[in-house]
Amino acid sequence: MPIKRHQVKSKLTVGYVLQSHPETMKYFPATELLTKKNFTDMIRKYKKVYLKPDRGRKSRGIIRVEQEGPSAYLLRSIIKGKQHKFDHFNKLWSEVKELTAGRRYVVQQEIKSVTNDGRNFDLRCHALRINGEWVIGGICARVGELGNFVTTSHIGGTPTPLETLFTDLLGYDNEEQSEVLERLNDCILQAVKVVSPIYPKNLEFAVDIGLDKEKQVWIYEVNNQPLIRGNFKLLPDKTLYHRIRSLRDEARKSNESNLSNNTD
Ligand SMILES: Nc1ncnc2c1ncn2[C@@H]1O[C@H](COP(=O)(O)OP(=O)(O)O)[C@@H](O)[C@H]1O
Ligand SMILES: [Mg+2]
Repeated sequence: MPIKRHQVKSKLTVGYVLQSHPETMKYFPATELLTKKNFTDMIRKYKKVYLKPDRGRKSRGIIRVEQEGPSAYLLRSIIKGKQHKFDHFNKLWSEVKELTAGRRYVVQQEIKSVTNDGRNFDLRCHALRINGEWVIGGICARVGELGNFVTTSHIGGTPTPLETLFTDLLGYDNEEQSEVLERLNDCILQAVKVVSPIYPKNLEFAVDIGLDKEKQVWIYEVNNQPLIRGNFKLLPDKTLYHRIRSLRDEARKSNESNLSNNTD
C-alpha cells in the first residue's frame, strides 16, 4: 500500500530536521520524544512544557504542565479542560501516562507568546512554492481567549491581522515592527527550505510561530497540509485569503509546467 502524505506528518521528524540545520536551530524550542526521562529533564530545566501528539492537529490532545514549587505541579489538558494540581512527581507522571497512552508524544519547552493583556497568541505563516521559489503568502495572528493555553480558532482563538497584534496588542513602534517582520520572514523561509525536501511534492506549508517578549520568534510546528478556512478566511479583511488562493493556483500551474518541461 502506498504511504499517504498525511501519514508522514510527524512533529518529531520535522523537529529533528529543524534542529539539525543551523539556519533553523536558533528558531526551534527544545523538543524531545516524550519519555519519563525526557519529561523529568525538561520539566526540571524549563519548568513549563507543552506535550503534543506527534501526529496531532488542531490542538487535539495537547497538554500543558507547569512546575509550581519544589513538589507541586499543574496540568491542563484539552481532553479534560480543567487544571489539576499534583503534589508528587510520580502522581503527575501517572496522569501524563494515562492521558498520552497509546500515542507517541513530544515534549516541548513552553514559549511565552502573550499579548500585553495576557492572552496567548501565535502566528500562522503560509508559504508557497512558485517556479521553484518559496514565497510568503500571508501571516496572521491567532489570539487565544484569556486563560486558554492554545490559540486554535475552534477552541476560542480569534484570527487577527498582524498589524492589529503589533500595534494594539503588543504596542510595537514602526522600528520594532520592521525588526520582527525581518526575523519572521527569515524564520519562515529557512523553515520551509529545510523541511520541504521531506515532502518533495508539496507546494505549500504553514509554519506556526510564537513570539516572546524579547521579540524572538519560535517555531511550534510546520504543517504540510495547511488549510486557510479556519484562519485567513476568518479575518475581517479577506485580502490575504484571496491572495493565498490565487497563489495556490499559480503554484499548481508553475508546477505542472515544470513537470511537463522535465519530460520533454
Ligand atoms: N511550545 C509551546 N509553547 C507555547 N504554546 C504552544 C507551544 N506549542 C504549541 N503551543 C500552542 O498550542 C497550539 C497548537 O500547537 P501546534 O504545535 O501548532 O500543534 P497542532 O496545531 O498540530 O495541534 C499552538 O498554536 C500554540 O497556541
Ligand atoms: Mg498548529
